[in-house]
Amino acid sequence: MINIDILKADKNWSLQKVKRRETLYATHGYHKYPAKFIPQLVRKVIIKYSKPGEIVLDSFGGCGTTLVESKLNGRKSIGVDVNKVAVLISKVKTIGISPALLEKRNEALFSRIDKKTVTRDFYHHANERLKYWFDPLQYNKLKLIYDCIQEEPNKKINLFYKCCFSNILKNCSIWLAKSIKPQRDFEKKEEEPVGAFKKHLNYMSKKNKEFVGLVTSRKVKDISCKMLKGDARKVNLPAEHVDLIVTSPPYVTSYEYAELHQLSILWFNYTDDIKKIKTKFVGTESKKIIREGMESGVAKNLVGILKEKNKKLARHVSNYYFDLTKCYKEMFRVLKKDKHLCIIIGDTEYDGIKIPNAEISVQLLENIGFEVKRVVKRKLSSKIFTPYRDKDGRFTDSKHGNKRKIYQYEYLIFARKPKGKGGEKNAKS
Ligand SMILES: C[S@@+](CC[C@H](N)C(=O)[O-])C[C@H]1O[C@@H](n2cnc3c(N)ncnc32)[C@H](O)[C@@H]1O
Repeated sequence: MINIDILKADKNWSLQKVKRRETLYATHGYHKYPAKFIPQLVRKVIIKYSKPGEIVLDSFGGCGTTLVESKLNGRKSIGVDVNKVAVLISKVKTIGISPALLEKRNEALFSRIDKKTVTRDFYHHANERLKYWFDPLQYNKLKLIYDCIQEEPNKKINLFYKCCFSNILKNCSIWLAKSIKPQRDFEKKEEEPVGAFKKHLNYMSKKNKEFVGLVTSRKVKDISCKMLKGDARKVNLPAEHVDLIVTSPPYVTSYEYAELHQLSILWFNYTDDIKKIKTKFVGTESKKIIREGMESGVAKNLVGILKEKNKKLARHVSNYYFDLTKCYKEMFRVLKKDKHLCIIIGDTEYDGIKIPNAEISVQLLENIGFEVKRVVKRKLSSKIFTPYRDKDGRFTDSKHGNKRKIYQYEYLIFARKPKGKGGEKNAKS
């Protein structure tokens, strides 16, 4: 087995020269999303491990970075995510709308918005959870914009507008800026909704034009991209269907995606019970029972140590690896023989205890039947995101007094599904 502890960071994969601005080319900057891939990194994996026309899968598709890069590089792609907001964003990032048509529809939308004024108090009848996050005037203005969006008959353009709307919600609410935890900030100066919406829509329209230009010049316009709402533990795809898997699982004790996207989830009425949908996410804290039986000695030892120190964390970590095992088995099932998988994952720390996700993933993959060919350690670029968090979980900089440093490195685990039958019997869940 590859010894992760002695690996040195590989400069070829660190992409230190890539600036944040460059990560936002084409449609990549449509919507903020936690733990988004750097497009240039995924592109490098896609080009090295697949051929044009082949199918790339991202089982934890998030905001669709893999899908966009696959399309731009002539590969078909499938994304899966349990989060409906992720599905919305990914679809919108890969559709490409005629710029001339979009310009016309935008003018019509802006004119509908400008003609309306807030005359009714929608806030009064709003969902209580939404009221928690919005000032009444802000809410009423957002409702006005949303009603105008809903008058757009073209389905693709309607989704495009919803994605734009979703992206401005946090800045127009009293959600503590840049916080990864749902916290209110009563001192916050929220963005004015109409101005924020128009500004972001203009930005997205410009980027749509760039995307359409790229897919046209590269002759990849008709390459298919599918984003499915689904569960990585049981993907709705036939066996041996895809040629490459590039994905990054959620980390244990890290982001609570359902909570982080609750403003959009509630606004679009995807559910009114965030707690209920949280249970469908891998890595959340919600389950009461402890599920064991993950196929990694390192994970078992870790859970044993945690049980002595922090029972809740032990349960949480154990359930996470139990679920991750299921996801990796599903990846084994849907991947064609002799094809590759690339898992991008970092270690985490909780209560001073290291959670060695990369080492455990290598063990899990090998025990399932994959051949782990290579592990690359890469330093995360400080130009793209700061590795510091303050005590409230907000991103901060190196000068901040009460900061803690997280995730300085991440790992790319390259594994291959063997040609023969080796390992497949283990892979049955
Ligand atoms: C690290 S993020 C992926 C980000 C992605 N690489 C990108 O560039 O946007 C992990 C994703 O896993 C999703 N997720 C969590 N549990 C899932 C499950 N059971 N099935 C599918 N997706 C899940 C989360 O909603 C989140 O979008």
